[in-house]
Amino acid sequence: MKIAIVTGASSGIGKLLATGLEAPAAFDELWVIARGEEKLKALQSEVKVPVRAIPLDLTKAESVETVKALLAEEKPAVSVLINASGYGVFERFDRIPEKDVSGMTDLNCRALALMMYAVLPYCEKGSVIVNIASVAAFQPVPFGAEYAATKAYVLALSRAVNKEMKPRGIRVLAVCPYWTKTAFFDRANGNSVITHFDCMYDPAFIARKAFRAMKKRKDYVVPGFVAKATHALTKLLPHSFVMKVFIAQQKLKNK
Ligand SMILES: NC(=O)c1ccc[n+]([C@@H]2O[C@H](COP(=O)([O-])OP(=O)(O)OC[C@H]3O[C@@H](n4cnc5c(N)ncnc54)[C@H](OP(=O)(O)O)[C@@H]3O)[C@@H](O)[C@H]2O)c1
Repeated sequence: MKIAIVTGASSGIGKLLATGLEAPAAFDELWVIARGEEKLKALQSEVKVPVRAIPLDLTKAESVETVKALLAEEKPAVSVLINASGYGVFERFDRIPEKDVSGMTDLNCRALALMMYAVLPYCEKGSVIVNIASVAAFQPVPFGAEYAATKAYVLALSRAVNKEMKPRGIRVLAVCPYWTKTAFFDRANGNSVITHFDCMYDPAFIARKAFRAMKKRKDYVVPGFVAKATHALTKLLPHSFVMKVFIAQQKLKNK
């Protein structure tokens, strides 16, 4: 049996990747992971293959053990793993709740790495791992300091593991979206000090670009013109200047 696994499949980018995955990939069963069980079960009406809803809080250390146990029991070939579970809190670092200081690294970094590590023994030639990073991965982001650092980790890990896995014929793709209109903001904006969004992408656009990059065998993709321009500027300009501009744009000096 061939399976695809999508974390963060209950909402936003992960949901669109889970429901659209049958076009670019071939698999017999879709395993979907997030905390919201009902939303995961509801995905069955949107895809043709059987859906296995696996409700897990991936910030908990034992959650990936549950996935490992299921894999050991079923022994499937994992054709695709998409790591889309993630969240961000945008506030001055010393004002972030402590649970989020650990929560962001636990979910965005630790769980993502452990999910890759758990599925790799079940991957075969042609298997693809897609990790959702962010354009925030390309430079330090004041008032999104830890979130950006977690995404820099995701990008660096993904690109290096992609190289390591070449002899096995397994690819790892990092997707680096700009601001995208999803529930991410419902969660982030509770205490967020970020108020200026010069561009907001549609998650369906991000999903389309991710599927295209999967086919094109890229190791990372930055979807959209504004995102690409921002990425280019972070390569050309000193990061100290980029951070200054970001702080000014967000009018953060007064906060
Ligand atoms: N939106 C943006 O502007 C943007 C930009 C760049 C990158 N990204 C990244 O894109 C990815 C998807 O985010 P999104 O924008 O689609 O936001 P979203 O709609 O809030 O989706 C986040 C997903 O992560 C899951 N999740 C959250 N906490 C979890 C936990 N503790 N355990 C397991 N799953 C958890 C959520 O499901 P439950 O709540 O049901 O657990 C949900 O399915 C994230 O990695 C995010 O960092 C987003």
